[in-house]
Amino acid sequence: MTDKVYIFDTTLRDGEQSAGVGFTIEDKLEVARQLARMNVDIIEAGFPFSSPGDLEAVSLIAREIKGPVIAGLARANADDIDACWRAVQRAETPRIHVFISSSEIHMAHQLRKNREDVLDMARAAVARAAGYTPDVEFSPMDATRSDLEFVYDLLAAAIAEGATTINVPDTVGYAIPQEFERFIRTVRERVPGIEKARISVHCHNDLGLAVANSLAGVIGGARQVEGAINGIGERAGNTSIEEVIMAIKTRGDFLGVHTDVHTREIYHASRLVERVSGMAVQSNKAIVGKNAFRHSSGIHQDGVLKLRATYEIMDPADIGIPAGGSIVLTKVSGRHGLRSRLFDLGVTLGEDEFQRVYEAFKEVADRRDEVDDRDLQAILAEVSSVQVAEQWQLDLVQVSAGDHSAPTATVRLVGPNGASHQDAAIGTGPVDAIYQAINRVLHVQNELTEFSVKSVTEGIDAQGEVTIRIEADGGSYTGRAADTDILVASARAYVHALNRYLNTEARRHAAATSTQ
Ligand code: KIV
Ligand code: ZN
Repeated sequence: MTDKVYIFDTTLRDGEQSAGVGFTIEDKLEVARQLARMNVDIIEAGFPFSSPGDLEAVSLIAREIKGPVIAGLARANADDIDACWRAVQRAETPRIHVFISSSEIHMAHQLRKNREDVLDMARAAVARAAGYTPDVEFSPMDATRSDLEFVYDLLAAAIAEGATTINVPDTVGYAIPQEFERFIRTVRERVPGIEKARISVHCHNDLGLAVANSLAGVIGGARQVEGAINGIGERAGNTSIEEVIMAIKTRGDFLGVHTDVHTREIYHASRLVERVSGMAVQSNKAIVGKNAFRHSSGIHQDGVLKLRATYEIMDPADIGIPAGGSIVLTKVSGRHGLRSRLFDLGVTLGEDEFQRVYEAFKEVADRRDEVDDRDLQAILAEVSSVQVAEQWQLDLVQVSAGDHSAPTATVRLVGPNGASHQDAAIGTGPVDAIYQAINRVLHVQNELTEFSVKSVTEGIDAQGEVTIRIEADGGSYTGRAADTDILVASARAYVHALNRYLNTEARRHAAATSTQ
């Protein structure tokens, strides 16, 4: 069996230090629950002395969350450590994480202390924490810009006082992977008593090297990695913990280590953190970005449609990403991709007709970022005999909203048999009210996972284009619509996505009954 790398998640502490992010206590508890489902080893739930609210949140998490170690952060002074202990003491396994700066620049200009003072403070703080709990972590902040000999002395002193995890932070994201690996290796070789502690790494992303440095740390001998979901954190953020986890899973052959994380919970954790932090995940972000498993070029689509592993080194299902939507039609897409998307629409064409559709598709694709199902339907209507009808059409949408009334929407939809169905609902906002009203007509269980509006023309009468994604029955379906009224566009985009889902369901059903 390979060595285990312990996963220390600091989304709720360092992640919350991202500019503009502030979690509510309910957000924190929800994220902690998801991290426990993911089976991370340690949750750093907050910095209890920093505010009464954070102390309360850490205490709640310590009481409620079973499984992972619950850690709180504390500076190297008695008040911080006592507050931290009050917050974490009810956890199944509580940890106090003590830190103090070790670089000359921090000691001289921020702490205004000399090395002896810092050593004494570290010793006293770790001893105080160890008096409360046997699980104490110690971090020399800004370690990578410190005199390494001094860091070794500090770590040795912390271990002597009872620290069981010693963490090496690259606080300002300054390290280069080879250099950081060497640093960790020398910590193993040079720090007296190191065999009694686990070595941890905590890297920031100022040079975009946080994940690379963390993995270099693992190669150097670290067996705990700290990071945050989606890489949120101070400045350019923290190590993206999901990237480290998937790198270890995918390249365990090279790294010779494993984690115990339930990787299928990663996608849900990422979406949750995106929602509660308000920090959007960039499309091309590794592992959890919208495009991470989408293929646009003809050569890649052809390969993936023949054998997924030709262009995918991980199975999106292992990350918990819903199936569907991996083939994106753009100007660089080819015949295989187009055929597969037409097949998803329930359309199979003869060679001549397909050739006409393909040529028309190429023309449209030259003018657009992405050719979606609506465009394909228009192409089919124009150059082939095939019509793909939307099962449901939006006939009317009416909304009443304002700062003194509950947002209310009425919708009328025309169904596949031509009959009209009308309903109304109240929502948390006007779009929510519309979606609730549509749900009352169509009764499709789904989760709205993306909603974006962009202006496609300019001025006060600009067309707003709404793009949404829903998840239903393990699949993911996009919808897009444009209108000068973004509420109308929102309603049409939703009906469009639901139609895509219903079409897929109808095809699945037809395929199942034809094989019976
Ligand atoms: O970046 C850092 O140095 C930290 C410490 C508190 C571990 O977040
Ligand atoms: Zn940090």
